[in-house]
Amino acid sequence: MPSAVTVNSGLDGAAPTNGVNGHVKQQIRGGHADARTRRAEPLTYTGTLDQYEHFDSTPAIGREYSNLQLRDILAHPNRDAMIQDIAYTISSRGVVFLRQQDVTPPEMKTFVELLSTLAGCPSSSTLHVHPLTEEGSELGDQISVISSAKQKKGLSDTSRLASVGWHSDITFEPVPSDYAMLKIHTLPSTGGDTLWASGYEIYDRLSPSMAAYLETLTAVHDATFFHDEAARLGNPLRETPRGHPLNNGKSLTTTHPVIRTNPVTGWKSVYVNKGFTKRINGVTRDESDMLIKYLLDLVVHNHDAQVRFRWNKNDIAVWDNRATWHTASYDYSDPRAGDRVCSLGEAPYLDVSSTGRREAQSA
Ligand code: SIN
Repeated sequence: MPSAVTVNSGLDGAAPTNGVNGHVKQQIRGGHADARTRRAEPLTYTGTLDQYEHFDSTPAIGREYSNLQLRDILAHPNRDAMIQDIAYTISSRGVVFLRQQDVTPPEMKTFVELLSTLAGCPSSSTLHVHPLTEEGSELGDQISVISSAKQKKGLSDTSRLASVGWHSDITFEPVPSDYAMLKIHTLPSTGGDTLWASGYEIYDRLSPSMAAYLETLTAVHDATFFHDEAARLGNPLRETPRGHPLNNGKSLTTTHPVIRTNPVTGWKSVYVNKGFTKRINGVTRDESDMLIKYLLDLVVHNHDAQVRFRWNKNDIAVWDNRATWHTASYDYSDPRAGDRVCSLGEAPYLDVSSTGRREAQSA
């Protein structure tokens, strides 16, 4: 990742020459030669965060730290090891919550760049530039301003099901996001919670036969609707590379494996989402609709695979988009605003020799 920050990732020389993760190519489905993970093996947690008070939000997903300041980690002499442990914690727990953070938007960018680099993103991946980001925006191209003022008001011709909001970020890009960080600085007095769900947990709820079948499939992810949204907002869509040379041009559609392996944990996750996945390939339209609906039902109806976070001012959430879905709750009328930074990881792939989380943890 071209970067203003210097890292000692320990990943030099790990780039595989014979398929992702050094496996023979038949074990790898998907991926792209120009966007491979630099991880030869999953990360191992080394214990540098044990000193900070924390708890797991639910058994399936989430961990919260009450007194860990990201700004202190950036200045810490053991910075790189601590950030690798944070990367492992986010990737294994799905999402990490950090209360009352002091970091500024430029520091958020620095932190997320380091996080992605130290977790092994391809050297060609940088921070994402969202296709709807305005040219010359105040905080720079790589910060998305999340603002209730920009969201459409009123009851137009939209679904009345809040569950339509479940998504993983920017899966319409050939090289989508590994991590995203959101800091909310303006809050309604109540409402505006965000929910996340675990892709590892949903994978583990599939029967072995269904999982094996889904592992043979790919799906189309499409955000062509952003062209209309860009016109509504009066901004031209960003067509220059959006954080990776492969994320380029007018097309906002791509194909990814239905089940992917997260290189940081080595665990399989379901990678189909309500926001962007339009079609499963190689089956009839009806079969595609049925499979997508079933996978999304597992996300929406399993409240024990989810976590709901109630924000306080200046709290931060950092999540792994390879292994989670999230949705905001649009149940408030007062202003709500924050800043989001999204890094790009590898082109999604399935390593058929990897396992689900439950199998890995019971081994
Ligand atoms: C997002 O979808 O990334 C934003 C979530 C939120 O506003 O809570």
